[in-house]
Amino acid sequence: MPKKDARREKIFEAAQKIKERAHPDEKGFRVVITGKGGAGKTTLTALLAKLFKLDGYEVLAVDEDPQINLPYALGVPPETDIVPLSRNFDYIEEKTGARPGETWGVMLSLNPDVKDVIDRFGMKTEDGINLLVMGSVVQAATGCLCPENALLDAVMRFISLREGEVILMDTQAGVEHFGRALAQGFSQAVIITEPTFNAFQVAKHSLKLSKELGIPHTHLAVNKVRSPNDMERLKRIAGDTLSEFTNVFPLPYDEEILKYEPNVSHLLKISSPFVEAAREIKETLKKLGEG
Ligand SMILES: Nc1ncnc2c1ncn2[C@@H]1O[C@H](COP(=O)(O)OP(=O)(O)OP(=O)(O)O)[C@@H](O)[C@H]1O
Ligand SMILES: [Mg+2]
Repeated sequence: MPKKDARREKIFEAAQKIKERAHPDEKGFRVVITGKGGAGKTTLTALLAKLFKLDGYEVLAVDEDPQINLPYALGVPPETDIVPLSRNFDYIEEKTGARPGETWGVMLSLNPDVKDVIDRFGMKTEDGINLLVMGSVVQAATGCLCPENALLDAVMRFISLREGEVILMDTQAGVEHFGRALAQGFSQAVIITEPTFNAFQVAKHSLKLSKELGIPHTHLAVNKVRSPNDMERLKRIAGDTLSEFTNVFPLPYDEEILKYEPNVSHLLKISSPFVEAAREIKETLKKLGEG
């Protein structure tokens, strides 16, 4: 082969590789992370977002928790003031025709076009993860006809149709919010628990809801595991229910997480057993998401 053609071939190959890396999954998939308060939802969501990004995926991380923790877990500086969409009254009015609290007598657009939402209100982390801070979609699930619900509902619908990226949604504690409005279009749920009776009761309830919502794969992540005894105890507590999860992943207790919490960025620079375990979850999500 002439030298010039060989070079061209090499460049073509390299370009092809970059292209494949940038879009390993054209369709993309959506994962919702749920569980009891303090179980580790935000820590795991942030880490998974970073691991998927490192694998070359486009990642959209969605924070549904009105407490707004996910941005800071992803490394957004703590002094950054963030207004969730649910409290962005100007945008709500622009899109639905009404401000929260003034629906009476106003024509409300129930299906607003929100395709500009990521461009206008999405944040970008320093490692290139897209981040959308929604605020609670709890009210949206109640079906109340208020402008903020119409907007959040429309944003959830819009998110459920986006392609070519992995969407990871961190949610607020508990199960009350885990309804149709939240879970539409999500193909996998990761329920995170601690190896305790109380935490597992929430996980069990979430599993039931996840099934009712028709989410095809529901995984259990058992966090803060300090010894094999913890997993044994969890197995005893869970009994037969354990087999109803698609997978069960232990996540070790790791002091390193607490060093810079809530920020998880430093964990990728050290050898962390928690990161290794999260990598396994990522690989499984990937396999099922692409399958
Ligand atoms: N495997 C672990 N080892 C040690 N500490 C952990 C581990 N996982 C999470 N943590 C710590 O536990 C606390 C709660 O974690 P996190 O905020 O991720 O939970 P959460 O489920 O999102 O909580 P919330 O319900 O309040 O949103 C944090 O201080 C976090 O750093
Ligand atoms: Mg959280």
